[in-house]
Amino acid sequence: MNSKKILVIGSNGLLGQKLCEIIVRGGAYSLTIASIEEKPVRQVVGAQYQRVDITNKKDVKSLVFGCNPDVIINAAAMTNVDACETEREMCWKINVEGVENIVEAAKRADTKVIHVSTDYVFDGKAGPYTEDDRPEPLSYYGKSKLASETAVRTGGVPYMIARTMVLYGFAPGVKPNFALWLIDSLESGKPVNVVDDQFGNPTLVDDLAYGLIQAFEMERTGIYNIAGRDIVSRYEFALKLAKVFNLDPHLITPIKTSTLKQPAPRPLKSGLITLKAEVELGYRPSTVEQGLLILKTQLNRTLRMLADSGPIPAQNVSKPRG
Ligand SMILES: NC(=O)c1ccc[n+]([C@@H]2O[C@H](COP(=O)([O-])OP(=O)(O)OC[C@H]3O[C@@H](n4cnc5c(N)ncnc54)[C@H](OP(=O)(O)O)[C@@H]3O)[C@@H](O)[C@H]2O)c1
Repeated sequence: MNSKKILVIGSNGLLGQKLCEIIVRGGAYSLTIASIEEKPVRQVVGAQYQRVDITNKKDVKSLVFGCNPDVIINAAAMTNVDACETEREMCWKINVEGVENIVEAAKRADTKVIHVSTDYVFDGKAGPYTEDDRPEPLSYYGKSKLASETAVRTGGVPYMIARTMVLYGFAPGVKPNFALWLIDSLESGKPVNVVDDQFGNPTLVDDLAYGLIQAFEMERTGIYNIAGRDIVSRYEFALKLAKVFNLDPHLITPIKTSTLKQPAPRPLKSGLITLKAEVELGYRPSTVEQGLLILKTQLNRTLRMLADSGPIPAQNVSKPRG
């Protein structure tokens, strides 16, 4: 029997790596993976890796036509929100034109597209938001992601768009996300300032990856909010993390977003209502505590494996977690 083919673009990123891990573990699909780097961050058993720059139309076409997938899951993006604000041309090229290239190739190859967007398409004045609320992005990143949604929705392909927020989790070599940054800082006894006026549902990357695969398997189309169960402030999240990881909560000081003077404005009262995904996809988001306990187990398992095999390539992994 021919198994269905999945192409994951952005496979070296946090979500991309998690998707690969889960798809390979399930064993039900043939997998092609692609990202901008020359090599995969880690070897994925049974998956072909191809370098792709999604801003290069020719690259994208040859990738898609070469593997002829049943679905493309796009996890590639420029995700640094402040860099997107200051490097607008680059942001638009990757987050909008790159997605247009993927959609165009998908249309020609008759392939479904699963794309990932963000709560930053909202202004954060009246969250949490449903899929039907009116987007009003504050930042250039948010604008580019909203434009990417439009490219997917109007591109003439079957599609599913997942909006998510504050992704956290572990994969080798990924940029430090909020949780990993906190763990690193608190473990080394560094005091941290954390905003107490940004609200939303932090999302364990594993939950998002399962949600996307579930949407593909159930042949769902349209927009779905796929995020964590609990709506908390970043400060509350940090305190919960300190508790789960047995770290010192006194190192965490609450501050206001305005004091950070970041280039990109942030939605404050955000959050995504996940009811539609729960009902239609059977999506079961982790609570903050559950997600952090899973992360802790993963980090400890990685440390044990690294201790058995010698060198420690991954950042953010310093010592066993109590
Ligand atoms: N992280 C969050 O908190 C968050 C929240 C809401 C939504 N999202 C969305 O979720 C998705 C996945 O995010 P993530 O956190 O997994 O991001 P990530 O770790 O930054 O991964 C994105 C990957 O895309 C790659 N990439 C960048 N430009 C590319 C290009 N031109 N061609 C091919 N690959 C390229 C990146 O490579 P480099 O690292 O070398 O640039 C990176 O490997 C994104 O669509 C993001 O907008 C993320």
